[in-house]
This record gives sequence, structure tokens and C-alpha cells, in this order.
Amino acid sequence: MDFTNYMSDRVKPMQGSSIRAMFKFLEQADIISLAGGSPAPESFPGRELAEIASELLAEKSHICLQYGVTEGYTPLREIVKGRMAKVDSHKEYDETIITSGAQQAIDLALKALINKGDGIIVEQPSFIGTLNSIRSYEAKLFGVPMQDDGMDLEATEEILKTENIKIIYTIATFQNPTGITMSNEKRKKLLELAKKYDVLIFEDNPYGELRFAGEPTVTIKSLDTEGRVLYFGSFSKILSAGLRLGWVTAHKDIMDKIVVLKQVNDVHTPVLNQMMAAEYMTRYSIDEHIAKIRKLYGRKCGLMLEAMDKYFPDYCKYTRPEGGLFLLYTMPEGYDAKELLNKAIANKVAFVAGNTLMLDMDKPCSSFRLNYSLVAEDKIETAIKLLAEVL
Ligand SMILES: Cc1ncc(COP(=O)(O)O)c(C=O)c1O
Repeated sequence: MDFTNYMSDRVKPMQGSSIRAMFKFLEQADIISLAGGSPAPESFPGRELAEIASELLAEKSHICLQYGVTEGYTPLREIVKGRMAKVDSHKEYDETIITSGAQQAIDLALKALINKGDGIIVEQPSFIGTLNSIRSYEAKLFGVPMQDDGMDLEATEEILKTENIKIIYTIATFQNPTGITMSNEKRKKLLELAKKYDVLIFEDNPYGELRFAGEPTVTIKSLDTEGRVLYFGSFSKILSAGLRLGWVTAHKDIMDKIVVLKQVNDVHTPVLNQMMAAEYMTRYSIDEHIAKIRKLYGRKCGLMLEAMDKYFPDYCKYTRPEGGLFLLYTMPEGYDAKELLNKAIANKVAFVAGNTLMLDMDKPCSSFRLNYSLVAEDKIETAIKLLAEVL
């Protein structure tokens, strides 16, 4: 059967994530993948979580195997609210709910706010999951280039002046895919622009706690006094990606709608997973755990940059992140990272070609994303050497 005519107009232009497609390379043992965005498996507290899960199932099955509240398991919500206090002063009007990853929170917030044709400004390149979610709601995407200190605010204002924009989406800290962090000055200015042109900001911050160098920045959410900023957090990179736990903090008037949408989407995030995370953070210090992850990623990123400095041609440039999971490599204009990827795969190394992360995926792009969290430390130099050969 040909199902094309059955497909909704919404999904027709959408393509499967080529990053997901990359996951197949992770299964081929002889290819070193710098493509995915997965956290380091050695950072998962497997044994501790196994013990907790088995106790919960044995002693609290009446709770963890039962339906739960849509907003989230209360003890976990309280812990998340407590952690939010570190990055944002408590606002009376805000609510925080637990979601099935930040991905679901972003998708539901878009669903609550976006009509077909509404404009959304995004950094370019940006996170494919959000780009595809925006596409599925038939919003109009406007990309602004990245600069060393975050998104180009002059370009942002030019778009705000002329287009019907509702939301600015930013990954201000250790951006995916560039690794760039927005300066505090720009954060203030971005919020001023949002006020001036009356738009909302989505601050997506799954990497904020993974700083291994440089000075901390403030969250845009902490500067906001009106509820103009929706903040998205995630446990994926600080505890476990597979537990699918994230959260959103937003004004309660918006949250009321998000909660209804979550109810019809998945009723609630799995209770067992939420209880496991809450119990882990009650028994152990998550801050000590995160400190270890920061150290690990700082070391891995350092090894990658060291090898790149040594083996890569000097006509290319790359970002030097102070945290997070990624860096972006840019070849001279005219080179196509997609073409290079085929050669790289033949040489047993993989990355994400930049065109996938741009608004126009079909246009050749000279940048590509490298991930340093997943690859084993003793394979980093080899991976970079293999890539240098094809470069
Ligand atoms: C910028 C960004 N936002 C959101 C997500 C989704 O995170 P989660 O695993 O919490 O759904 C990711 C995942 O890689 C991401 O890179």
C-alpha cells in the first residue's frame, strides 16, 4: 500500500532524524561514533538505581505500578523545585511539572502556544528535536546565526521588527550543536528584546549543570519578572537518559494548558522512573554525582581538542566549549560536511553533518558536530586521526 495520501499535511515535510539514523553506527563495533548525543554510560549510577528499583517494586508497588498524577510524583517535583531555586528566584506565578524528558515538555509547550503560521526564531544551527517539533505544528521558522557569545541579536531584532514572531527558542548554555554559551550581557538584551516585541522565550537548558571551565552564567529565566520565559530542564545528562525525565517551569496560566495536553499525551511520566530518581537524590548527593560527570566531560573534551589541535588542518576552525557534550567544526566555505561524512564512515568514524541541524537541510553545509561524551577516552585520539585523514 502507498500511504502517502493518508499522511497529514503536518508530517509530510518531516524527515526522520538522521541523528537517530546514526544510532545504527553505534552498533557497528568497528566504527567510532562521534555522532550521537548520548551521555557517557560510565556516568550512570546503575548499581544504586538497581537497588532502589528492586526495593520500590518489592515494597511500594501499590504506588510505582499504579497511575500517577499528570504533574509528576510530588517528592520529585519538590526536589526539582528546590534545584530550580539555584538557577531562578521563586516566582509566585510559576509552576513546575515533571515530563517525559525535556523533549516532551518542549513539544507540549509548542502545542499549547503555536498556531499554523506563527513565527519562531531559533539559533542556527539548533537542536533537531525542537526543529522537528516546531515543523510538526506548521510554525514558520526563522534562523539567526551563532556568534562566539551566543545568537546574533541584531539579526534577531531585524526579524522581530518585520515578522509575526511568538517565540524565541534558545539553548543559551553549551548550545547543541555548537557548544557556545551566550554571554550574560546578551541574555539581558535578549529578554529586553522579548519585552520590546512582546514575544516569549523558550530557554532550553539540559546542559547548564555540565560546566567544566570558565565562569558560570545566569539563566534568562532568573532575569524574567513577568513569566515571559519558559524554562526546560532534563535529567538525561545528569542522571540517566533512558529514564526519560525532564521538567518545565512556566507561568501557571500556560502550565494549565500544558498539563491538559500531557494528560492526553501520556497521562503521566512513568511513576517508577520518577520514584527512582527521587529516591536516588534522597539517598545520594546528585551534586557530587554531577561534579564527577563534569570532570569526565572536561577530560574528554580536552583530549578531543588536544588531538584536533595536533592532527587537523589549520584552515578549519572549531569551537572550544566550556561545558556540555558537543563542539562544532567548520571547514572553509564550499565544503560539504554531508559528502565528507560518507568518506568518514568509510574510514570508520562518524559525526553529524551540519545540514541536518539547519533550517534548510538540503543546502550543503560546511560544519559538522562532534560529540565527546559517549566515545571512550582511549579512542578519542584514534577517532580524530581517522577524521583528519579524510579532512
Ligand atoms: C538542546 C536539547 N534540548 C532537549 C533535549 C531533549 O532532552 P531529553 O532527553 O530530556 O528529552 C536534548 C537532547 O539531546 C537537547 O540536546
